[in-house]
Amino acid sequence: MTSRIYILLLLALTFSSCNLTTSPKVGALGDHAMVVSAHPLSTAVGLNVLKQGGNAIDAAVATQFALAVVYPRAGNIGGGGFSVIRLTDGSIAALDFREKAPAQAERKMFQDSLGNVVGELSTIGHLAAGVPGSVAGMWELHQKYGSLPWADLVQPAIDLAFEGFLITANEAEALNEKQEDFRQANHYRPWVVRENGWQANDYVNQPQLAATLSFIRDSGRDGFYKGIVAQQIVKEMQRGNGLVTHEDLQNYEAIWRAPLVGTYRGHRVISMPPPSSGGVAVLQMLQGAELLNVGRYEHNSTNAVHLMAEIERRVFADRSKHLGDPDYFQVPVQQLLSPDYNASRFADISIDQTTPSTDIQGGEVPYESPETTHFSIVDADGNAISTTTTLNLNYGCKVWVKGAGFVLNNEMDDFSSKPGVPNFFGLIGAEANAIAPGKRMLSSMTPTIVEKDGALKMVLGSPGGATILTSVFQTVLNVIDYEMTMQEAVSAKKVHHQWLPDQIKAETDAISLKTIEELEQLGHSFEFVDKIGRNDCILVREDGRLEGGADPRGDDKAAGF
Ligand code: DON
Repeated sequence: MTSRIYILLLLALTFSSCNLTTSPKVGALGDHAMVVSAHPLSTAVGLNVLKQGGNAIDAAVATQFALAVVYPRAGNIGGGGFSVIRLTDGSIAALDFREKAPAQAERKMFQDSLGNVVGELSTIGHLAAGVPGSVAGMWELHQKYGSLPWADLVQPAIDLAFEGFLITANEAEALNEKQEDFRQANHYRPWVVRENGWQANDYVNQPQLAATLSFIRDSGRDGFYKGIVAQQIVKEMQRGNGLVTHEDLQNYEAIWRAPLVGTYRGHRVISMPPPSSGGVAVLQMLQGAELLNVGRYEHNSTNAVHLMAEIERRVFADRSKHLGDPDYFQVPVQQLLSPDYNASRFADISIDQTTPSTDIQGGEVPYESPETTHFSIVDADGNAISTTTTLNLNYGCKVWVKGAGFVLNNEMDDFSSKPGVPNFFGLIGAEANAIAPGKRMLSSMTPTIVEKDGALKMVLGSPGGATILTSVFQTVLNVIDYEMTMQEAVSAKKVHHQWLPDQIKAETDAISLKTIEELEQLGHSFEFVDKIGRNDCILVREDGRLEGGADPRGDDKAAGF
């Protein structure tokens, strides 16, 4: 065992043993730079790039590849995502590296002959996989903004894959939960399948993944979309009746899109446009919160939770009707964000009455003619990047590409398989998000950056499917309205309403018994869950220092210097 392995093992042990059950009031502080990501080892990789003089985008590329190794349930090269960037000169950009439906995908591919949706087809196995976008995304980010050599940014992930690391208790639990799915989805036994189950501190090395990453290191995006790795993906698809072909891989392009910009109580909020619903939804929710002055009510009090639920159900109804891939469907973004539209959209909200979701439909807007993971990084020059990437559900479609050592996404489930039939996250869609060849499926991922008085203030984002929208929304409110530190805002218990089902989803202990009773009297019903969101965010404090808020719901880690 090399000394480097010892260091990695030690690091993993140290960090896994301080797996937070209670979180501090203030998160990690840095005078110059900060990385917050889902795993201590990926945070260490990103921080090291920054210390070597790399910029925030260099660090993002290295962090993303490291996550693909140490956080296999959501970190990925077989998935896709979005980045929102704000450079120190104030310029902004958004990169879409969302997966696409393969060219052979069909509108009714997940329905049986009677027109019933066969749920598992879009979540487990080869058909569930969209054409991956992550490697093209990292390549594009680096081509445009990178300052260190590409190979230097991929190499740390190769080292981690080859030399190995110790898994955390959370990862062991997630791997154990999916043993049956792994067996069902694979025609051979990938490394994740383990007879007697996994435990914290089990040692994992991934030589096949190291080899795949080496092709990417040496040939850039072509190392994934062409050559041996592409052949391995296509062979895997053929074995499992999947649809992704060489043409799909070669045609995949990450796309630069204009970020969405809105305001909230004197702040400028920059977020992701479609095919994510994130920017539209959060900017609508913030308009609602400002109009109704949600912040005047105590955090998670009856009035605050009620108003947020009423705002959220209207926004989710709009999402369901209007949002989809803008290259395939005319998404009325400007109309949905217009202050006039939102003033009337939220006008019928009453402080002492609920509006049943059955009384709410997607708003009429005038048409003009024509298991995810998030990280936030700020570098010493003040450049910021907010990136959320995903395989969709934990370990994606559970299919490990034979010989290549990585798992494919099950992002096809983010399409609407049939109008009105909910997907895994209970989200309903229609025409805007119907399956079509080459189309990008609608996302909730919401990488977001907030400015105040022309300066960087926050870098935000979270995994969590539909709850991404509401947990990013609440994290913004927690800092701006409730004056929490970044760590408090991230750790604070969250609540969620998504129109359908018509109920408030709340973290256990998020709201008091008395508040629950009061909300029930107003007509709300509840589902209680262990965790909502996993926000990894950065705040530029009044004193100029950076505070990283790492979510205590996972193994997440903030570190700065
Ligand atoms: O893009 C989306 O909205 C979903 N695929 C995100 C899935 C997710 O966040 C799962 N993580 N917990």
